[in-house]
Amino acid sequence: MRFLPLVFTGSSILSPVLAQTTDQPDPPAPTPTGIDVFANVTLYQPDDSTQVTVPRTQSLPNNTVLAAWNDPSSNGSIAIYRSINSGYSWYSFGTATSDSGKKLLQPHLLYINGTYAEDTGTTLLAVNAVDDYTTTIELYTSGDQGESWELASEIANGGPLSNASVAVTNPYLVYNGDAITVFYSGNGDNTYAQKIVQQTTTENYDSWDNAVDVVASKFRTDRPAAPSIAKIANNQYIIAFQYGSLDPKTNTATYPIYYKITPNPQKAASDRTREVRVDTGLVPNGVPSVTWTPLGGANGTIVLSDSRSKSVFVNQALGEGEWRELKTTAGRAYGREVTVRK
Ligand SMILES: *[C@@H]1O[C@H](CO)[C@@H](O)[C@H](O)[C@H]1NC(C)=O
Ligand SMILES: *[C@@H]1O[C@H](CO)[C@@H](O)[C@H](O)[C@H]1NC(C)=O
Ligand SMILES: *[C@@H]1O[C@H](CO)[C@@H](O)[C@H](O)[C@H]1NC(C)=O
Ligand SMILES: *[C@@H]1O[C@H](CO)[C@@H](O)[C@H](O)[C@H]1NC(C)=O
Ligand SMILES: *[C@@H]1O[C@H](CO)[C@@H](O)[C@H](O)[C@H]1NC(C)=O
Ligand SMILES: *[C@@H]1O[C@H](CO)[C@@H](O)[C@H](O)[C@H]1NC(C)=O
Repeated sequence: MRFLPLVFTGSSILSPVLAQTTDQPDPPAPTPTGIDVFANVTLYQPDDSTQVTVPRTQSLPNNTVLAAWNDPSSNGSIAIYRSINSGYSWYSFGTATSDSGKKLLQPHLLYINGTYAEDTGTTLLAVNAVDDYTTTIELYTSGDQGESWELASEIANGGPLSNASVAVTNPYLVYNGDAITVFYSGNGDNTYAQKIVQQTTTENYDSWDNAVDVVASKFRTDRPAAPSIAKIANNQYIIAFQYGSLDPKTNTATYPIYYKITPNPQKAASDRTREVRVDTGLVPNGVPSVTWTPLGGANGTIVLSDSRSKSVFVNQALGEGEWRELKTTAGRAYGREVTVRK
């Protein structure tokens, strides 16, 4: 089994000479043994004027990987790209379209490897459907591995994206074998400026329980947001997020990354919130991505990425103690992704 630690960055910052076009032959497919390393593959090249961010990928069977990303120029639909060689080369594959013509932003993909709601091998796509006045966390499903999509549910509604105090944002899907949970940032009540909540549905795609708090600060003005979640060893989960708060000295907002370790991410409200303390003193900042690999000893390795640094941060003690900064050659970008390919 191969575990390729991959860092996906915002594709607009990658060198155009490395852009994958259909005229070029595919690079050789990865061999099934040994570790293959490749770098700086362009997944999608937008117009020069567009900043695409927060790429999110999902492995399917047979070395297939799907990808989607936040494209503010999108209009009424979102593109799904596919690789059938573990991420070496990418092509346009599918489209999810909004019935109401809203922009579909902030995607997160999840493949259900098994049977759920009597469907086997369903692919899920959570997005933020946005117009000038509203945000809506929506769920789309695909029965053909990401090519065609249909709206399955409108999960939560909020005010405009321009006002973080009222918007719902950044959905993140987790499947635990029985239920689908969507984590997202939202307000939902007047007690907090922003908080992270979850809603869960069991047996179908559309019977969401009421929103349950996951991360809510005791300080009203704090803005925990942008959750990323991974299952680690010992049947524990890590929930990483950016912790927006006002620095009283400079009166400016800061977005360091914090996390929780919990046996049950659906009921994590009372688990303590921890800082990412890095050996080099660097403070990871802004829209995290977190993953776990069994490599690296009995605890495996938690790998965390932020939006400000080219490095990633690793922890081999189940989230206890210090994190180690690991320099990479991958570019720095907003909301880049770390993930593990088997
Ligand atoms: C699906 O599950 C099987 C059995 O646990 C596993 O071998 C396979 O790697 C999984 N595939 C994906 C794409 O997760
Ligand atoms: C994977 O590939 C094999 C061989 O081509 C095929 O039989 C199988 O249906 C594929 N699995 C999926 C889930 O597409
Ligand atoms: C976006 O979609 C709307 C409705 O279909 C259309 O009127 C508008 O021209 C589109 N805008 C762009 C930039 O494509
Ligand atoms: C954001 O929404 C809150 C709550 O409704 C409101 O008090 C505030 O004025 C809004 N901010 C802006 C910039 O519209
Ligand atoms: C695994 O994690 C535990 C709990 O943090 C720690 O005590 C132990 O030293 C770690 N083991 C290894 C091999 O790093
Ligand atoms: C990838 O691209 C970045 C930015 O252009 C560059 O600094 C880095 O050396 C490249 N990495 C590899 C392994 O080619």
